[in-house]
Parts: sequence; structure tokens; C-alpha cells
Amino acid sequence: MRRKLVIGNWKMNGSLAGNSALLSGVVAGYAARNADCAVCVPAPYLAQCQTMLNGTPVSWGAQDVSAYAAGAYTGEVAASMLQDFGCRYVLCGHSERRAYHQESSELVAQKVLAALNAGLTPVVCVGETLEQREAGQSALVVCAQLQAVLDVLETPALEKIVLAYEPVWAIGTGKTATPAIAQEIHALLRKQVAKRNAEAAAGMQILYGGSMKPDNARDLLAQPDIDGGLIGGAALKAADFLGIVHAAE
Ligand code: PGA
Repeated sequence: MRRKLVIGNWKMNGSLAGNSALLSGVVAGYAARNADCAVCVPAPYLAQCQTMLNGTPVSWGAQDVSAYAAGAYTGEVAASMLQDFGCRYVLCGHSERRAYHQESSELVAQKVLAALNAGLTPVVCVGETLEQREAGQSALVVCAQLQAVLDVLETPALEKIVLAYEPVWAIGTGKTATPAIAQEIHALLRKQVAKRNAEAAAGMQILYGGSMKPDNARDLLAQPDIDGGLIGGAALKAADFLGIVHAAE
């Protein structure tokens, strides 16, 4: 059976003092029973996570990674650097990276490879915009985004990635996808992976993200193909984040 996974995506939020309180709260309230839990923080705070979370059941990770291993790429952070700071996860292709930093699906695929090469678990984000949904293109868009990643991965690597379906129209808007809409896309994504390898598809954790909150988490997480959540806004308050983690547990 797939274990549930809840990842907090802090985006560009935080401060040393604020993070300290938030991380302590999460550690204190997380029972680590039937769900895994992690936070993906801005890169400068990875050292703080390493200090505070090492030896606890809470994992940590980054929100982006360079496709390159090292060299003259000013401002970029290499996967080996994330590994140095004990990261387990790294988000790849979050819709905000795709939209504001022009990341193509091909670049996202290269980032996934870089993460895997460093022993990190890439969390591959896919999702359609409102315009695309209204034009009936949701399936087309998410499948193309996923396919670009599948195209560069050898079959054994399929067992080392996590997927996240994050409809852009649900991110930070308070408009959650209904459990039925989310389930439909999750099932579609799993089917697409199954075309490559049924076993990898059956074991793959597919998270939902987009205005997931403690009060809607239970219904979403009850869907057969929703294996956890990628949480933005609600990950910035320990009580809200833990409410979702507890729903997953
Ligand atoms: P949200 O963000 O929970 O604030 O909608 C989710 C995400 O962008 O990962």
C-alpha cells in the first residue's frame, strides 16, 4: 500500500526566527504514524532545517534545483549542494517556476535527472491553468508535462519520483479542486505511468496541491489515487499543516 506523504511548500516565505517556531511546532505535533511529512523551504534555510530536523521524523527539501552539476550558472543551486544539506526532496517544475521563470517541460525533465543523480527524490509538479481547463485541455496539458519527464527516465528511476497534481487555478486562490476532479486527473497520471511500467505506477505517490486545508484534506485524501498533499499557504502555520498531516495519518 502507498504511504501518504504531506509536503509543505513554504515558497518565498520565512525568517530564521519564524522558521524556528514553525519547525518546532511541526516536530512537536507530528506523530509519524501512517504518513510521511516534509517541508520544502527557501534554499538559505536548508542549513537551519538540517540543524533542527536532523534526527526527527520530519524530512526537508528545496523548491528548485539546477539542471547543471556545477559551474558558471550564477544564482543556481546544484543538486549536490542540496544533498550536502541533507535534503530528501526537491520540487521540480512548480507552476510558479514554469510561469515566472519560463521553465519548459524539457528543462523540468533535466532538473529531475539532476536531482536523481544526487540521490534526491524529485517531486514533479504538473497542472493546467484555468484557461486550459475551460478549453477542455486539462488532460492534454498534464499528460504532456508528465510525458516530458517520462521520456528522459529509465524505468528503475520511475520508482524514485513523486508526482504532484497542482491545478494552477487552485493554487493560493482558495478554490480547491473537488475530490472528483482531482481523482480523475490523478488516475489519468497513474495510467500514463502504467503504460511504461505497471509496478512503478502502482507504487508511485501522487500528491494533490492547490488550497488544501485541514477542513478539505480528508475528502481529497480519501480518493483512491490521492496519496498526499503539497501544501502552500496552510504550511505556514504549524496547526494548519499538522491538521492536514493528521488527516493523512
Ligand atoms: P496553496 O499552494 O496550498 O497555497 O494553494 C500550493 C502550492 O503551490 O504548492
